[in-house]
Amino acid sequence: MTARATPDFASRLLAWFDVSGRHDLPWQHPRTPYRVWLSEIMLQQTQVKTAAPYFQRFVDALPTLRDLAAAPLDDVLALWSGLGYYARARNLHAAAKRCVELHGGELPRDLDALTALPGVGRSTAAAIASQAWNDRHAILDGNVKRVMSRYHGIEGYPGLPAIEKKLWALVDAHVASPQLPDKRLADYTQAQMDLGATLCTRSDPACVLCPLQDDCVARREGRIAELPTPKPGKAPPQKHAHVLWAEDAQGRILMLRRPPTGIWASLWTLPQTEDADAARDWFQAHLTGDYAAAQSLPPIDHAFSHYKLRLQPLRVRAEPIARIGDNDDLRWVARDELTSLGIPAPIRKLLTNEGA
Ligand code: ADE
Ligand code: SF4
Repeated sequence: MTARATPDFASRLLAWFDVSGRHDLPWQHPRTPYRVWLSEIMLQQTQVKTAAPYFQRFVDALPTLRDLAAAPLDDVLALWSGLGYYARARNLHAAAKRCVELHGGELPRDLDALTALPGVGRSTAAAIASQAWNDRHAILDGNVKRVMSRYHGIEGYPGLPAIEKKLWALVDAHVASPQLPDKRLADYTQAQMDLGATLCTRSDPACVLCPLQDDCVARREGRIAELPTPKPGKAPPQKHAHVLWAEDAQGRILMLRRPPTGIWASLWTLPQTEDADAARDWFQAHLTGDYAAAQSLPPIDHAFSHYKLRLQPLRVRAEPIARIGDNDDLRWVARDELTSLGIPAPIRKLLTNEGA
């Protein structure tokens, strides 16, 4: 019997990728250096879904690196037309010419030589080398920065050189894992991109499906919403919502318990909707009463770590349509009961200041 090491980052990620990763992207079949390079340049500022048809059209017209180098720039720009960020197309064309001049018409299989090509930074060079030749190089694109910041609980804006240096050290350590087989570097690179794009998304990541959840510092410490640290000095986005303050004839307030994840997880609050129309719909689905008589109260501003929320309270007299009693997460709460419930500070302030 052989002793098995505890699965690490790389092996958990690969096991997930085998089942849930993307295996049928156009540049994977066939996976040549030219096609990998072209796809990486397209995907620098464009999503997979958008890039795929452009990729196919491009390689149909210019199937090899030599074809690209020999094409007039205008043809290359025409093939790029619609993808935006045209500097990418100009750099691609210049890089192809350089490969013909310096590298015998092939992409160089060397990280420094790749990085010297126009439009190819360190992470793109690593993405090309790992996918084209299964070479052992770590990538660190925006997705991977987000995953690493969360998985290791790294504070600080990832665009800062000091933070970026820390993140490079972490991805370099992961890629050196003995649990990552030599033949699987292409899959490992793709797996990181897929995880970042499909599970560990910027807002509301699907941690319950994540192969890394047991070791993820941000998940364990409830810091997913704060990591990665936003760019310093950048104004947090302003969001808006309506909250419905429904009171019955006995002065009881209809309160709702929020889901166990996300903002105000598991706390009791007022029913909240995105806008006024949705507030009216919610009222009509759950309550009876004179909605037209609802009173708009002064808005409440609340700052979360990553955005600002302005709540518009609507106070209205109402009775339930049916008994709500059997719903654990929605119930009528008497005023003297409010002190015993977990209620977010701004909502508690609203309910107590505006008093009976
Ligand atoms: N972004 C950059 N490269 C990518 C790839 N190979 N797959 C998905 N997204 C990407
Ligand atoms: Fe990202 Fe959640 Fe997975 Fe952590 S557990 S890496 S936050 S998806």
